[in-house]
Amino acid sequence: MTNKSLIIASARALVENTLGSEPSGHDFEHVARVVHNAKTIAATYPETEVDYFVVELAAWLHDIDDRKIEYVGNHITVQQFFASVELEHATRIAITNIIETMSFHHQVAGAVVTSLEGQIVQDADRLDAMGFIGVARAFAYGGSKKRPMVETIRHFDEKLFKLVALFNTPKGKELAQIRHTELVQFYQRYLAENIY
Ligand code: ADP
Ligand code: NI
Repeated sequence: MTNKSLIIASARALVENTLGSEPSGHDFEHVARVVHNAKTIAATYPETEVDYFVVELAAWLHDIDDRKIEYVGNHITVQQFFASVELEHATRIAITNIIETMSFHHQVAGAVVTSLEGQIVQDADRLDAMGFIGVARAFAYGGSKKRPMVETIRHFDEKLFKLVALFNTPKGKELAQIRHTELVQFYQRYLAENIY
């Protein structure tokens, strides 16, 4: 195994240990799907344009420090992880910048994801808030905060329907269209069946 694949394996193990049973939809499977989406989008660019390693490692680490997550294990931060592996300074900076700027919350606060690697991981994360998986995650999140379903339905209007317009990459935009349609489909059926 090369050093890079050892570092990826170590990040994956960290996510398994810290987010394995996270109850609000920021669990191991979420992160693994984001890695998969990120690699799919990155593959539409040549290796000369995108650092695939930065994309994959940032995707594995993107939710480790998230403020919304109620940690079930020991809370290990990205900086502690960096201290445990051999990584070039520039790579650490690139990944830290991505993680600190990519969330919807940070974007609303004015943060901009400048690197292409960051834009790819941001698209990959947003895709997982959409489609039928996105529906499931929204209700898992609301339930974990003990919110009534009607509040999660409001979240569709407030945030989820806006995501489709915020994608950075051509591949991300293409995948987002399909998942946006699924969100709308669910929402309309929910309203149609929610008769009392
Ligand atoms: P970001 O970190 O990019 O701001 P979030 O962590 O807020 O994104 O969103 C991640 C997941 O949590 C998404 O699936 C989203 O729908 C869900 N989520 C976040 N806030 C709420 C909410 N108020 N109600 C329901 N789901 C939510
Ligand atoms: Ni995420």
